[in-house]
Amino acid sequence: MSFPFTVPPVAADRLPGLLRQMPKAELHIHIEGSLEPELIFALARRNGVQLPYASVEELRGAYAFSNLQSFLDIYYAGASVLLTEADFHDMAMAYFARAAQDNVVHTELFFDPQTHTARGVSMDTVINGLHRACVDAQAQFGVSALLIMCFLRHLSEQEAFETLEQAMPYRDKLVGIGLDSGEVGNPPEKFARVFARCRELGFRLVAHAGEEGPPEYVWTALDVLKVERIDHGVQSTKDPLLMQRLAKDRIALTVCPLSNLKLCVFPDLASHNLLQLLEAGLAATVNSDDPAYFGGYLNDNFTQTFAAGPLNAEHAYRLARNSFEASFIEPSARKRHLDRLEAAFETFR
Ligand code: HPA
Ligand code: ZN
Repeated sequence: MSFPFTVPPVAADRLPGLLRQMPKAELHIHIEGSLEPELIFALARRNGVQLPYASVEELRGAYAFSNLQSFLDIYYAGASVLLTEADFHDMAMAYFARAAQDNVVHTELFFDPQTHTARGVSMDTVINGLHRACVDAQAQFGVSALLIMCFLRHLSEQEAFETLEQAMPYRDKLVGIGLDSGEVGNPPEKFARVFARCRELGFRLVAHAGEEGPPEYVWTALDVLKVERIDHGVQSTKDPLLMQRLAKDRIALTVCPLSNLKLCVFPDLASHNLLQLLEAGLAATVNSDDPAYFGGYLNDNFTQTFAAGPLNAEHAYRLARNSFEASFIEPSARKRHLDRLEAAFETFR
């Protein structure tokens, strides 16, 4: 493709089509957060699990959140229907099918093994089910997928070490390690030693920081945990020095607009700071986080965010390009995706 690539101007009425068509990577998706109520009920029936909701409609009706914790309570309850390797496989395949419709060509899935091992589900069941789905996603949908195992930050560092130990037989099936769950009161430095160990083991490192928590948590995720990407990170705009650091080091932020809206991080999408992050030179990306709970998959995040503010084709290109540049794929695959991204934009010239 041409170098340097110039993004064609695209009229506002053609922008949603471009956003949907452009190839993109999704780097912030909790696979347990892709469980739609219909699938939760189907798996509950298959496994004889009793749910505290009478119907799909009643469950979906409970998806009204005031903050991160109010969501996490219902999200962990939903995951209780996952018992067998087939359950984990089927959940991930449903996500891959939906992602492929959105022209997601590469994705890096978070999963929370402690949510499952605490219920007596083995690490073997969780990782083998998800890994088999990643292999099938490539064959069935042409979507490449990598797995990132997350530690639950409301639990102890000792429990994270035990989880890492249980996952060691499957280390070749994992590209990286992340940190999620309730942020405030559980700063990154609580996991300093276990992240240092993961780094020695050669895992790529990411962490949720600055979703609800303060900019200080983004600093310690970078300087203590030594992560390569920050998940969310939207609170960083409160700290000009941090903004400079993120821009200078090209640290990617995996921003999730509809998640931020549903968890009341911003009052509406027009108030979201995605544009501010991009204009400050940060490597922001757009992601769905927990699409079954937050009212939209990846293209919904793009189209609704662009509809709410003055973002244009240049921003769309930047966001998609950032998603590939911040991903953990091979350089040759990255180059192929970037070429295809430019080709998709060319068709709008
Ligand atoms: N933040 C923290 N933990 C999570 C999230 C999130 O947005 N989604 C699933 N677990
Ligand atoms: Zn998340």
